[in-house]
Amino acid sequence: MDWGMRNRIARMFRPDSGRTVMLAVDHGYFMGPTRRLEHVGATLAPLLPYADAVALTRGILRTSLPPTVPTPIVLRVSGGVTVLHEDLSDEAITTPLEEALRLNASCVAMSLFVGSPHEHETMTALGQLVTDGEAAGMPVMAITAVGKELEKRDPRYLALACRVAAELGAHLVKTYYCDGFSKVVDGCPVPLVVAGGPKLDSDRAVLELAHAAIAQGASGLDMGRNIWQSDHPVAMIRALRAIVHEKATVKEAMELLGSSEPPRADRAAAST
Ligand code: 5RP
Repeated sequence: MDWGMRNRIARMFRPDSGRTVMLAVDHGYFMGPTRRLEHVGATLAPLLPYADAVALTRGILRTSLPPTVPTPIVLRVSGGVTVLHEDLSDEAITTPLEEALRLNASCVAMSLFVGSPHEHETMTALGQLVTDGEAAGMPVMAITAVGKELEKRDPRYLALACRVAAELGAHLVKTYYCDGFSKVVDGCPVPLVVAGGPKLDSDRAVLELAHAAIAQGASGLDMGRNIWQSDHPVAMIRALRAIVHEKATVKEAMELLGSSEPPRADRAAAST
């Protein structure tokens, strides 16, 4: 692996723990203005100091992040359909690699729809992106998505999808936590980061998910809604960092959560 590629990967992982807490704010590319992500810049500002990388699209990068921000960028480069389309797997590369280089991204990310109608297209697109990424020194993160069953949590499925992504050359894989997650990790020879999925019922459930994922070998998180839809997003990301980087227990992380941030002012409006 060339120096540029290794340097880009190293930027996203904290050297002391070897792990990462990525903050995902790319949801709008197919979901539109998701709750509490209506104004991405305002949502991001207090969280960025606690993110090892931020995952977004080029449009949100240009409109919502000042170029002085030092946080490494994971640029989503796939898209093409929205939640209104009957087949979410009908994605293609929407942002060329040249633009990711121009935007000084540390990584590009695309969804891989294993087992969906456009499985073949997304797999060949991943292969091409890796080929181009290798030539340019740009790491590629594959995101294991499954069309409208986006939150499918079956270890056999996720192990298959993550392994296929690695076989196609992905340098990192983002997937979901599931019971039996160690099987997913065991079969995947590249680092895995875990998404949070839709907002969970309690803070404890979020911290338990993160703790279990790290304990079973995940290299970090790439989490969105369970951070920025939280009533205390800064406290939440700090508690997650303690789990990922400092081996905090769920109890210790809960204590940190309880002590560090008052609930946000718009709590009453949060029920939508
Ligand atoms: C959207 C994504 C998200 O970045 C990913 O799902 C992580 O966010 P969340 O924790 O909210 O699930 O890839 O397609």
